[in-house]
Amino acid sequence: MARILITSALPYINGVKHLGNLAGSMLPADVHARFMRAKGHEVLAICATDEHGTPAELAAAKAGQDVKAYCDEQHEVQRRVGEAFGLSWDYFGRTSSRQNAELTQHFAEVLESKGLIAEVTEQQVYSIDDGRFLPDRYVEGTCPNCGHEKARGDQCDNCGKLLDPVDLIEPYSAISGSRNLEVRDTRNLQLKQTVMEPRIRAWVDAAQGWPPLAKSIAYKWLDEGLRDRTITRDLSWGVRVTKDGEPREGFENKVFYVWFDAPIGYIAATAEWAEATGGDWERWWRSDKGAEDVRYVQFMGKDNVAFHTVSFPATILGSEEPWKTVDRLKAFNWLNWYGGKFSTSENRGVFMDQALDLLPADYWRWYLVANAPESSDTQFTWEHFQGTVNKDLADVLGNFVNRILRFGASRFDGHIPKGGEPGEAERWLYDEVETRLAAIAAHHEAMDYRKAAAETRALWAAGNEYLTKAEPWTHFKTDPERAALGVRTGVNLCRLFAMVSAPILPFTSAKILDALGLAHEDLHWPEASAEEVLTALQPGRPFTPPDVLFRKIEDEQVAEWTERFGGEG
Ligand code: MF3
Ligand code: ZN
Repeated sequence: MARILITSALPYINGVKHLGNLAGSMLPADVHARFMRAKGHEVLAICATDEHGTPAELAAAKAGQDVKAYCDEQHEVQRRVGEAFGLSWDYFGRTSSRQNAELTQHFAEVLESKGLIAEVTEQQVYSIDDGRFLPDRYVEGTCPNCGHEKARGDQCDNCGKLLDPVDLIEPYSAISGSRNLEVRDTRNLQLKQTVMEPRIRAWVDAAQGWPPLAKSIAYKWLDEGLRDRTITRDLSWGVRVTKDGEPREGFENKVFYVWFDAPIGYIAATAEWAEATGGDWERWWRSDKGAEDVRYVQFMGKDNVAFHTVSFPATILGSEEPWKTVDRLKAFNWLNWYGGKFSTSENRGVFMDQALDLLPADYWRWYLVANAPESSDTQFTWEHFQGTVNKDLADVLGNFVNRILRFGASRFDGHIPKGGEPGEAERWLYDEVETRLAAIAAHHEAMDYRKAAAETRALWAAGNEYLTKAEPWTHFKTDPERAALGVRTGVNLCRLFAMVSAPILPFTSAKILDALGLAHEDLHWPEASAEEVLTALQPGRPFTPPDVLFRKIEDEQVAEWTERFGGEG
């Protein structure tokens, strides 16, 4: 048994996330957590809302709400929609927590004591009409790199380049639109990443469990040369800047930069979990307090990789304290909306709450895992979604479960019959199941989600193929023993499908277990031989066919949804 700490990139508080966010971090993290729990490992899965910085302030302003009230409300909205999607976090915290403020201040003070933080005078964009500085997203303008006209002060969405607000061409205030801006001096704290560079590089060199995408992004940053990074901002909402536990002089109107405190939020949300449950968070995070054998796995989209492989490690390694760092990192490309991007700020695509208004969570979970944007960007289209759901879920899994349980209910009185001895069809099935099970588990271990889904589907297909070979409906009159064996094996296959599909399809698995009268807590990963697994449910056990597991998506629905959500990029 291993101890596995799992975190997903923390979703910004600014509204319910779209399917692209879900597919590229939260959902695969949940699938991994569910798989590892089913394998009997001790898992702690942590997520939280990322509540500071300009995304939060701008969204609150747009909603006409006080930023704290906005965050309280939106945190609850995201928590609930995550739960409805079956995201089984052990804790869903908030970066605005007391724990995160304390830990963030702790890290800054320790880094300063190690000589890694300097107070510097910098130039920042100041808006005369708004009467304030405009850090990060508070200023927009033309990208100096690609000419995109709506680049934000911190980053250009078009070319992806990280920017400094003062670099923008023809800048204007995102609050008022005013172009009456000037550059003023302000004092800020800088983290001396230049000093840290060799240490970070050595740490990246030594990293084992990262995919090529993550390593190449980290090296790209390191090779371009790290710059000292400003970790405070002229904002009022965020973690206050302290010195020796007291408000830091000259920093009364400043807070830490959101990307400084957000990843610390992983640790802080674990501390929130501990406070809520009586758990011990240091046992998961401090190598001197029992975390040396924890395997830490992070999930994130590719735009987050540099922050997790370079910036956050600078904080952690710079402290010289025995904090846990990431062991395995799973990064995703983009799930795109037709030709273009899903976009929260431009409200393009399908958002998690809207998705659940259309169809149950498992339809989406399946589609998003089976088409995970792993080796390249992928595209969501309604037709592709329809095809995947209808073929995989309705025709293969749903059809199998409904067919065998209905037949068993009508011909064998809803009880598992004894049946004859296993024959050729069963031996074929045992072999097939043996191989597929090993492959599915290996893909989950490797966090290869498309492959895990493809093998899971292949296992379901083997069930249908078995029924074609065993033909219980044909043999019912001529060879009832054989028909009975087919039903007995088929019902056991249903249980196996519930066990194996649960990481991706938790709600469907629960329905199948209910149909078989099995407790959800008994759900574990099948470790015995295929033969043992497929004879585990004994004759005489009652079962009830569930309602149709999956309804096919009709062309009319696709037409309606295309109309409603648009299909253009
Ligand atoms: N909120 C960020 C995003 O959506 C991710 C933050 S990840 C964390 O891109 F590690 F900083 F928390
Ligand atoms: Zn650009």
